Amino acid sequence: MSQPVRFALIGTGRIGQVHAASIHRSPDAVLTVAADAIVAGAERTVAQHGGRATADALEAIAADDVDAVVIASPTPTHVDLLSAALDAGKAVLCEKPIDLDITRVDAVRDRARAASTPVVLGFNRRFDPHFAELRRRVQAGEVGRLEHLAITSRDPEAPPSDYVRVSGGIFRDMAIHDFDMARSFVPDIVSVTAVGLRQFDAGISEAGDFDAAVTTLVGAGGESVTITNSRHSAYGYDQRIEAFGADGLLEVGNVTPTLVRSSSASASSVGEPYRRFFLERYRDAYELELAAFVAAVRGDLAPGVPGFEDGRAALVLADAAETSAREGRTVAVDLS
Ligand SMILES: NC(=O)c1ccc[n+]([C@@H]2O[C@H](COP(=O)([O-])OP(=O)(O)OC[C@H]3O[C@@H](n4cnc5c(N)ncnc54)[C@H](O)[C@@H]3O)[C@@H](O)[C@H]2O)c1
Repeated sequence: MSQPVRFALIGTGRIGQVHAASIHRSPDAVLTVAADAIVAGAERTVAQHGGRATADALEAIAADDVDAVVIASPTPTHVDLLSAALDAGKAVLCEKPIDLDITRVDAVRDRARAASTPVVLGFNRRFDPHFAELRRRVQAGEVGRLEHLAITSRDPEAPPSDYVRVSGGIFRDMAIHDFDMARSFVPDIVSVTAVGLRQFDAGISEAGDFDAAVTTLVGAGGESVTITNSRHSAYGYDQRIEAFGADGLLEVGNVTPTLVRSSSASASSVGEPYRRFFLERYRDAYELELAAFVAAVRGDLAPGVPGFEDGRAALVLADAAETSAREGRTVAVDLS
């Protein structure tokens, strides 16, 4: 039996905690070191999941007893940490987005392409078992030639405007997951048309951003993809996909904790509320993402696991959507 993959985790905040728990649960992974600029966070993480703590991310990446690095620190740190990991010959699972600035992404593109170790991007939704099964059945030809993909993606509530100001905007911060999901069905997108809306959140509006958006992508084969985003949803996290083709339709609806339904004098067939947000809705997906990364580190990179080029393509689409929404025109894109 092979030895567990030895991990350095950089950033022990919201998403870092998710990865620490996945590493802990995996029989094929071990947390060797957790690094956080606020070392108390790293210390809390290793107290729970094992390993040593440091405030120095570069030291953690370079450590001899580390095979693989998870970059879960804030977005502006990703490119430098990714470069350091590539220099050290370590495999990387990097959270999305790679950066908010495509020129910084392109500055490391050649090195990421040439890397002998895998670079995997944290597009966790690709690993969601429901969406993965829908994709498998579309690819198996069940709906015939894919004509339209409808992605609905609404967060339960808007983030604080302090966050919105540095987030890169709704397209780069939020819809980037949906752009990647679209590309997992229709890899070659040729145009982007987006409408940005200011419907309900004055703080987001004052920050110069949109609180909702509707985007249409067109694929090289004439396929259309619509992405409907909102920063709020009264009924919880709204994550649905519909795939339409000449021979039929495949759909994935929202997930509830159990399938128990109740009927009474006032309502029929009422289920439990949908999952609150991404930590609850995509718990399995994060664990499967880590398993796919571990397999890649061991030389078994499965088809469809998102890499650096997918991270770059999603940012190109987000930039195009931003331009389209600001300028009121369709933007042609070239993802090659
Ligand atoms: N895939 C997903 O579903 C998902 C969800 C949330 C966040 N993210 C992404 O993950 C990243 C982190 O987001 P978050 O919500 O966990 O943020 P967070 O603020 O909760 O956590 C970030 C942590 O990184 C630490 N940190 C800051 N600079 C550092 C450095 N140079 N070295 C080491 N640690 C450092 C901070 O102290 C903090 O503990 C962002 O890029 C975000 O876009 C992805």
